[in-house]
Amino acid sequence: MERVAAAKRHGKKVTVISTSPAETQRLGIWVGRRLNAGDVISLTGDMGTGKTLFTRGIAEGLGVPRGQGVRSPTFTLVHEYTGRHPIYHIDLYRLRGKELEEIGWEEYLWGEGVTVIEAAEKIEQRLPEERLDVVLVREGVRQRRLVLVGYGRRFHLLVKALAMRGGR
Ligand SMILES: Nc1ncnc2c1ncn2[C@@H]1O[C@H](COP(=O)(O)OP(=O)(O)OP(=O)(O)O)[C@@H](O)[C@H]1O
Ligand SMILES: [Mg+2]
Repeated sequence: MERVAAAKRHGKKVTVISTSPAETQRLGIWVGRRLNAGDVISLTGDMGTGKTLFTRGIAEGLGVPRGQGVRSPTFTLVHEYTGRHPIYHIDLYRLRGKELEEIGWEEYLWGEGVTVIEAAEKIEQRLPEERLDVVLVREGVRQRRLVLVGYGRRFHLLVKALAMRGGR
């Protein structure tokens, strides 16, 4: 627990304001281009804040053809896409009971692919320390605040690069 707390304290943070769905998707593409096998991205935010749209961007940044259609995996829990790496798109919004165990989710988390988790707050304690957290907040009909917090060296650098690109 203490180590988790320490890692949290060292999270590096950047805030980006998006004023359109396309902008949120572009930010996802930017992130996706920089991801490696094994990376975990946790997305948190109310309904309709853009978690799925951001994930669509990540998939595109990882080279998934648009035709593979990144949609909300609400009913299936996990969707898989193939880009530069396999992508596991998990949505825990409707998660109940033992479902996580049933899908063998630890294998996704520690596997060869990039794992993107919507409603990740439900399993926060079980996420790897090294990861990128994205919190999406609705600020208007078309405005969203995205707060990205990177844990671990690689994600620190990613957040730093984003800050230099114009986040704040
Ligand atoms: N700046 C913005 N960024 C992202 N989405 C936006 C923005 N402005 C408006 N929207 C709209 O908000 C909606 C976001 O939908 P999306 O499915 O990505 O949200 P979600 O967070 O995944 O929701 P859910 O909790 O249902 O999974 C879309 O209809 C999109 O057009
Ligand atoms: Mg969604």
